Amino acid sequence: MKIKYKQLRLLIINIFRKHNLNLTHAKICADALVNAELAGAPSHGLSRLKMYCDRIQKKLINPEPKIKIKKISPSIAHIDAHNAIGFVAADIAIKTAINNAKKTGIGLVAVKNSGHYGLSGYYAAQAVKKNLMVMIFTNAPPAVAPHGALKSLFGTNPICFGTPTGSKIPFILDTSISMINRGKIRVAARDGTKIPEGVALDKFGKPTTDAKKALEGVQLPIAGFRGSGLAWMVDILSGVFTGGNHGGKVKDPFTDFTGPQNIGHLFFVMKPNLFVGNNFNKRIKENIKIIKKLPKIKRVKEILYPGQNKYNKYRKNLKKEIIIPENIKEDLRKLSNS
Ligand SMILES: NC(=O)c1ccc[n+]([C@@H]2O[C@H](COP(=O)([O-])OP(=O)(O)OC[C@H]3O[C@@H](n4cnc5c(N)ncnc54)[C@H](O)[C@@H]3O)[C@@H](O)[C@H]2O)c1
Repeated sequence: MKIKYKQLRLLIINIFRKHNLNLTHAKICADALVNAELAGAPSHGLSRLKMYCDRIQKKLINPEPKIKIKKISPSIAHIDAHNAIGFVAADIAIKTAINNAKKTGIGLVAVKNSGHYGLSGYYAAQAVKKNLMVMIFTNAPPAVAPHGALKSLFGTNPICFGTPTGSKIPFILDTSISMINRGKIRVAARDGTKIPEGVALDKFGKPTTDAKKALEGVQLPIAGFRGSGLAWMVDILSGVFTGGNHGGKVKDPFTDFTGPQNIGHLFFVMKPNLFVGNNFNKRIKENIKIIKKLPKIKRVKEILYPGQNKYNKYRKNLKKEIIIPENIKEDLRKLSNS
């Protein structure tokens, strides 16, 4: 099945409305899911829609949350998301951080009692569009073994940094700390395809390319102990610091229905002109130009900065129809009629 993104958005809004979200919240969720499909990240798009709806039905995601925003200073806020769907909590958080940064130079917003919010880069792009720099952290359910440990504990805990570039294409580094993101393994398990070598171990600690065995085993962090350290840092910033779950207590949204996830997120937005004034634009352009002009290895046409590839993909996909796999088409049909 193929569908135009605008039609898909309406379909998703309708599904979330049927699951008791108000229209504003349903639109926020639909926009985030459609964005994931357009950005070429289907592992964070429709493939999760049924999971969100299941968790709403089981009262683990609160469709009518009373979200509290505690103002700590003109720059800093602490949000208790009241088990809202992560998209809604993150939407409020990034908007608050952007507003605070515009007024004071810096916006720091911590969120607790939230859930999976999809792609960090989606929120980073919103800050960069307003000509701001941004760093975003979130923790996630156990998937990656800490360096030296036999058990998964860290999530794929993405690290995200965005900045204006002086051009229309934002710099957005948005990367999991695992060799591969868990959503991609889930999609491979669903489609019966193999995962690359060196990204996961089975439950006996043996390397595997079988996605199902990888889901039962552990994922490997990027760059050994360095990646493990970065994952730990994200768990501290988004879990320990915010009041969210941490230390492996975030529940797997697909398999653990014993309680809400209580994920934590941290959003840090800054004015890029804080230290160098209006020179920032000139300096960032110069920086990118220097790197792009470097001699290239064979078969590389252009040195890309992070986010450039995703931006190009997104622009191309806007003109195409979104392809929906059969099993997801069935989910959409059932969820629309539930
Ligand atoms: N909410 C969660 O719990 C959660 C957990 C993990 C991941 N995620 C999301 O999953 C998404 C995918 O993560 P990922 O690690 O698979 O991303 P990825 O490996 O596709 O990309 C990582 C980064 O590398 C950049 N990049 C890729 N190819 C490049 C190239 N040739 N040159 C220069 N830069 C390049 C990308 O623009 C991106 O910034 C992210 O958006 C992340 O936020 C979410």
